[in-house]
Amino acid sequence: MSVTIKSAREIELMRESCRLLEIVHNELADIIKPGISTLDIDRYGEKRIRSLGGIPNFKNYNGYPASICVSVNDEVVHGIPNKHRILQEGDIVSLDAGLIYKGYHSDAARTYGVGQVSPEAQKLMDVTKQSFFEGIKFAKAGNHLHDISNAIGNYAQSFGYGVVRDLVGHGIGTSLHEDPQIPNFPQRSKGIRLQPGMTLAIEPMITMGRPEVCWLDDDWTVVTEDESLAAHYENTVLITDGEPEILTLTLK
Ligand code: MF3
Ligand code: CO
Repeated sequence: MSVTIKSAREIELMRESCRLLEIVHNELADIIKPGISTLDIDRYGEKRIRSLGGIPNFKNYNGYPASICVSVNDEVVHGIPNKHRILQEGDIVSLDAGLIYKGYHSDAARTYGVGQVSPEAQKLMDVTKQSFFEGIKFAKAGNHLHDISNAIGNYAQSFGYGVVRDLVGHGIGTSLHEDPQIPNFPQRSKGIRLQPGMTLAIEPMITMGRPEVCWLDDDWTVVTEDESLAAHYENTVLITDGEPEILTLTLK
């Protein structure tokens, strides 16, 4: 598949899909507390996606069994919600959520501390989030895709962190995953030239230790091989003639 350029009408629908997702994420942020199960988070998120008129796009995607990916501590992404997995004070938890609105997909992830977390864990979350913002400084028409990848990866690595290589960001639109793939680590090639109307899910996944990951026996949960903590931060972004629009980050 090739990279799609969205029309003005499609961009409006992407904006709306992303705005609804941001509402869900903001509400999920408020329920993260010690004692809640990862399944409670999924249930709340799915209900809210549907009540806003969206459809959860992760549910049944390649057999993924839930609507919200909930990944705790050394889990990087795609954690499967479970009623027995109770968040504890000091954990860090990544919530990855998406929805479809009028045929258009949105996708965003946040990592939160549960109660009070260690300064080291807080720094990992802060750097992961900032690496996204370092990347989108280059998300402008005329630049190349890998300018974004290089900025994300170099920033995170400058703190000694691991940059996950086995999973990447992606184009997004009428499918959850469109071209191009968006690596988060420095590239030798330039990648495609960015054009107005491209919508991209940019999603650094950063570890406190080494970058290698492996898959648990549930075939979904991605964990760090060295069991170090991991954080994930993602937004759906629109390339414009000027500054990029962060479509899943407009409300606050
Ligand atoms: N943000 C993730 C991604 O882009 C969400 C996919 S989870 C899945 O790829 F369950 F849908 F696979
Ligand atoms: Co994504």
